[in-house]
Amino acid sequence: MNNISLARKVFLALKYRKTAFNIIWNSTIGKGRAGNYPENIGIEIISKCNLACSMCHNADLRVEHNEDSRVSLDLIKKLLPELKKYKPIVSLSGGEPMLHSRLFDMVSLLSKNNILTSVSTNGTLIGHRIDEILDSGLGFISVSLDHFKPELHDQGRGKQGTFAKVVEGVKLLSKRRKKTPFNIKINTVIREDNYDELPQIYSFIETLGVDEWSLAHLSFLTPKMAQDVEEYKCANGFSSPWYAFPLGRDALFSDDQIEKLVKGVQKLRDMSKIYKTRLSLPTLEEKDYYLYYKGKYPTCKSSCSFPTRGVLIHSGAKVSTCVMDLGDVYKDNSISSIWNSARANKFRSLYREQKIFPHCLRCNSLNYDFSNHEVVVERDIA
Ligand SMILES: C[S@@+](CC[C@H](N)C(=O)[O-])C[C@H]1O[C@@H](n2cnc3c(N)ncnc32)[C@H](O)[C@@H]1O
Ligand code: SF4
Repeated sequence: MNNISLARKVFLALKYRKTAFNIIWNSTIGKGRAGNYPENIGIEIISKCNLACSMCHNADLRVEHNEDSRVSLDLIKKLLPELKKYKPIVSLSGGEPMLHSRLFDMVSLLSKNNILTSVSTNGTLIGHRIDEILDSGLGFISVSLDHFKPELHDQGRGKQGTFAKVVEGVKLLSKRRKKTPFNIKINTVIREDNYDELPQIYSFIETLGVDEWSLAHLSFLTPKMAQDVEEYKCANGFSSPWYAFPLGRDALFSDDQIEKLVKGVQKLRDMSKIYKTRLSLPTLEEKDYYLYYKGKYPTCKSSCSFPTRGVLIHSGAKVSTCVMDLGDVYKDNSISSIWNSARANKFRSLYREQKIFPHCLRCNSLNYDFSNHEVVVERDIA
């Protein structure tokens, strides 16, 4: 059971017909091939953040753009004709997107043109912007919440009082969204301070009146991996800071920790049969958690759809896929020309040839395959 009502699903599928078609096409007939336009466009609309999460995979980007870089409403207006034509999903994130004063002007503009838009937020500013959220025509909102214990959520997010604001904001959203059809998702990253309390977190989330709870594995680079990535980037001319996950320490688990995590996840599956909040688990199979959290390399049978399906816009106008900067929307004029450029094609053929780059090893976009892992055991990452 879950409370994404059939009426809401039908509404979304009808309103965003072309987007729904693209998703189905790209996961079936067109699977593994790049179409003539990305299906997903992630836009880091602001690099600034009001929190300081130790795990943040954008930490490098936030440091690099300490002076703050943001995407303007004019950029969205400039892109609008091609967005209207191809109907990708546009995901607005950051940094903290709710710090951007024009965020909901962007969402309204996109939504009025039937472009499915999602916002990913740390949730601390929902209360301040609730009327704008409700009036914007937003399709999806994803709110980060890592624990049911206020002190642990606050500690991980680097600021006291965060938990209280997020929970208050989420409750407000679920209470007041009745007249609007957007979906509310909570996103939790599995970490050392919550891996053994996932069932309790699920029970807490069930009380919030949201549609979905999504769990993500922590994406990270150990110091050794970070070194390998740098060497690889230099050797191959990769330039984007994206997906750097610079944790600066090993984030691997002991046997005991992994066992508790696996048992917890099994319990979540049972709970999801009776809970209203839909459970969305990471793609990694439970039997492979041991290999993932022990730092073994995945095999080249693993796959990632990102290079053939998505781009990210960051630093005001740069367009990148994965770790490769592909262009600039002002200089190159359109996402379409960047997506179909020789540089983008070169990156995708390199990806087809190599399947796994050094930065893929602990990236939560990768669909992991650890079969045949004995062969690669000597390449342990820790
Ligand atoms: C980068 S944040 C940006 C949006 C917003 N500031 C927030 O925290 O929700 C987007 C999502 O990525 C998650 N995230 C951050 N660092 C991560 C990491 N190293 N591995 C996996 N997910 C991570 C966050 O918890 C959040 O749910
Ligand atoms: S709130 Fe989001 S962007 Fe800000 S530091 Fe945390 S994960 Fe990073």
